[in-house]
Amino acid sequence: MSNQNDVNWVEKDRRQLHPVYHPKSHMDPLVIERGEGVWLYTTDGQKILDGMAGLWNVNAGYGNEELARAAYDQMKVLAFTSNFAGMTNLPSIKLADKLAGFAYEGLNTTFFASGGSEANDSAFKTARYYWKRKGKPGKYKVIARKGAYHGVTLSTTFATGLEKYHTMFGPAPDGFVHIPAPNPYRFDGGMKEGETIGQAAARALEEAILHEGADTVAAFIAEPVMGVGGVIVPPADYFPLVRAICDKHEILFIADEVITGFGRTGEWFALKHWGVKPDILSFAKAITSGYAQLGGIQITDEIRETMETAADSEAWMHGYTYSGHAMACAVGLKNLEIMEKENYPARAKELGQRLLDGLTTLMEFPFVGDVRGLGLVCGVEIVSNKDSKLADPMLAARIFKAAQSRGLRTRPLGNVLAFAPPIAINEEEVDEIVKRLGAAMDSVA
Ligand SMILES: Cc1ncc(COP(=O)(O)O)c(C=O)c1O
Repeated sequence: MSNQNDVNWVEKDRRQLHPVYHPKSHMDPLVIERGEGVWLYTTDGQKILDGMAGLWNVNAGYGNEELARAAYDQMKVLAFTSNFAGMTNLPSIKLADKLAGFAYEGLNTTFFASGGSEANDSAFKTARYYWKRKGKPGKYKVIARKGAYHGVTLSTTFATGLEKYHTMFGPAPDGFVHIPAPNPYRFDGGMKEGETIGQAAARALEEAILHEGADTVAAFIAEPVMGVGGVIVPPADYFPLVRAICDKHEILFIADEVITGFGRTGEWFALKHWGVKPDILSFAKAITSGYAQLGGIQITDEIRETMETAADSEAWMHGYTYSGHAMACAVGLKNLEIMEKENYPARAKELGQRLLDGLTTLMEFPFVGDVRGLGLVCGVEIVSNKDSKLADPMLAARIFKAAQSRGLRTRPLGNVLAFAPPIAINEEEVDEIVKRLGAAMDSVA
């Protein structure tokens, strides 16, 4: 492929390894040159509606002048300075102050990282730290769910509950345990008579804690709406039960809101839907709408206290060069201002319902087994038979390709097509997603 400058960008692209790399998936990449709103433009003249907001993160849409200006203004004054050893900077102070209590009451302290994997890694280390400081050093294990995605550092790789991420990187470090996720469409855990799926999935957590020994478990981690695992919206009774089980057995609850944070599900943070609070919150992605690399954790005052009262030899020896990056934090602050001004949670709720209603009309296709979502994150599950619910990832891949050739970007997650467009999307563009996906399905039907 050549672009308007007659440069073979695809050939040159082979110089880099892409994330989750296999050469087969990078033979014919879309070479994106620019973006505007929800639209992406390739070097060879295609215009694509980005139904995934990049990787669930570009909530403000592409080409936002205010965010670009915030980065420029801050870089001119101070792009970076160390946040280690007695130094700090104004944007990180202002952003941490703004975030205090913003997501959940009582989570008033923020530690900044550069993305979601670093955030979750920080969360695990902090959970271990907390229990050591509490005189319970044997509590080190992390319970996660099958299908979960928590990142690609060594710890987050093995907290992730998708086998394919483990295969070539074992042996697994000790202490990562997986339980069934509360998937209302295809729950793979055991159910007792009269139990709801939420109750059965929560019971799986308690059984895992008892099996491992509560005195060995530091934390339970969960995405409120599972993303990469196939956009799983849990039943309403699940997280309140999970919270109670964690309290009962003294297990810290880590909410991985890397996708769901900052409005995507129709609340600022997703556990609010079920009136539940985590002990540690991981965030990333949408804090800057992807305009700068920023993530982090928030911790309760009680966890903070264990750091404040530690002996010198028990300091929390953790941090990254880019923790509290001045430019990234300035972009985060501006993005928060935009999200508040435009009331992103309300937008996501309203436009998400429109998207879900539209996608639900596609249930008329014999291969659409389930359509689900919460706010502006939706999943369309492709099956070869509605009764057997047999997953059909090959057909999902064909629909994905047919959609892309019609100028719509979705993401095939196994047999589930995911949608998480920018929250800056408008009604016509939402309808356009449904129209283009419908045409793609027609073409493969
Ligand atoms: C729920 C969740 N947690 C963590 C991560 C990892 O974030 P990052 O890729 O920024 O390291 C992701 C990335 O998609 C994610 O979806």
